Amino acid sequence: MRTPGPSLARVLIADDQPDILESLRLLLKTEGFAVETVASPAAVIAAVESKDFDAALIDLNYARDTTSGQEGLDLLTRLRSLDGTLPVIVMTAWGSIGLAVEAMRRGARDFVQKPWENARLLSILRTQIELSQALRRGARLEAENRLLRSEGLPAMIAESPVMQPVKELVGRVGPSDANVLITGGHGTGKEVVARTLHALSARASKPMVTVNTGGLAEGVIESELFGHVKGAFTDAKGDRVGRFELADGGTLFLDEIANMPLGQQARLLRVIEAGEFERVGSSKTRRADVRLISATNANLPEEVKAGRFREDLLFRLNTVEVHLPPLRERREDIPLLANYFLRQHATRYQKRVVGFEDAAVRALLACPWPGNVRELDHVVERAVLLAQGDTVLASDLSLRAAREGISRLEEMSLEDVERTLIRKALERFAGNVSEAAKFLGLSRSGLYRRLQKYGL
Ligand SMILES: Nc1ncnc2c1ncn2[C@@H]1O[C@H](COP(=O)(O)OP(=O)(O)OP(=O)(O)O)[C@@H](O)[C@H]1O
Ligand SMILES: [Mg+2]
Repeated sequence: MRTPGPSLARVLIADDQPDILESLRLLLKTEGFAVETVASPAAVIAAVESKDFDAALIDLNYARDTTSGQEGLDLLTRLRSLDGTLPVIVMTAWGSIGLAVEAMRRGARDFVQKPWENARLLSILRTQIELSQALRRGARLEAENRLLRSEGLPAMIAESPVMQPVKELVGRVGPSDANVLITGGHGTGKEVVARTLHALSARASKPMVTVNTGGLAEGVIESELFGHVKGAFTDAKGDRVGRFELADGGTLFLDEIANMPLGQQARLLRVIEAGEFERVGSSKTRRADVRLISATNANLPEEVKAGRFREDLLFRLNTVEVHLPPLRERREDIPLLANYFLRQHATRYQKRVVGFEDAAVRALLACPWPGNVRELDHVVERAVLLAQGDTVLASDLSLRAAREGISRLEEMSLEDVERTLIRKALERFAGNVSEAAKFLGLSRSGLYRRLQKYGL
């Protein structure tokens, strides 16, 4: 009975003798392999360069020099460097065992002696093809996994010694379902950590939904979190799905959690404990499976002492706490971050700026960075815009202003100005989007787009 070769395996056969090529082709074809034959080392290279083979069966001697096997050995070396995963089986003349050994040393997977025994040749071929298919599949899977891993992960530059325990903790708790509280000053990268935790988890294919609990007016938080039904309040023109439901199966990121009013804290705590909630204006109980990640730049134990934050809620949120040190304590990361931001902004603004002059790096290292990584990002953004040549000069950094904190309008990026104006307008109109939009001269949808863009 004929047993077919492993799934449509394609074999390349090389020999300078036409009769050998012909009989091998016949043998392999009847065994269910796809066969291609060539007669010279150059033709072998050309074939391997133009398509993928599952195995190559090559003779060691070609016309120019029929006994030393040198041409075949050279060919073997070239094949190895061309495609290390292609299994090569060599054919040697009877009695030239030394040559076979040398070929194996150079990476041949096996050898057959001429005249060959059909059964042995076929068995070697099948074994090698199966092995290499498994190896190639494994390599491809690994590459895919690597790609997936780095695609989902936000860039988190953290090579400095103080960041090592942070990175290690993030890597350890990321895949778990534990609630994580991320603490640290303004712009230290809390959101980057939140995204990394989510991307590392089994929930990565589901959404991470962000609620900026600090940026919402008291009356809005509840319907933002839990949704509402039509008519629940004057503005409720239709049903609305809350962030808890949107995050079902995924992660809910509660940003600036310390700013949540006490009344809402109690509500949130009940929902976390019961695992169920109702939309505002509805009595129907709903469930959502969410992992909670929260962030704050406040000192929550102190907020608890001052009576502004519920201790029981804190204990629910901080199963694990990740603290981000200020940028001035991770100096080693400053040049890395600065170069990373430089590349990003150079691409974005299509400017050919490739690096910093030494004095600029020294200035970056000397700055206290009260606004942490975000401030560094903005300083580099401005510098890229100001740079005349292909390197950023110390004078492009305008660090004196940066040191005073980004508060003067002319020192802020356009996006920061817009974000600040929107935040202020929302505060002024107690979170009423229609009023704020009118005040800013924007349409409601225009304002919503920006709220989304700035995560407000
Ligand atoms: N380790 C890091 N590697 C690369 N980029 C970073 C890192 N940390 C922060 N950033 C970048 O710096 C900026 C600020 O980070 P992020 O928004 O995560 O800070 P934050 O702590 O949430 O700030 P805030 O307290 O103002 O909300 C973002 O553009 C972010 O991508
Ligand atoms: Mg943030």
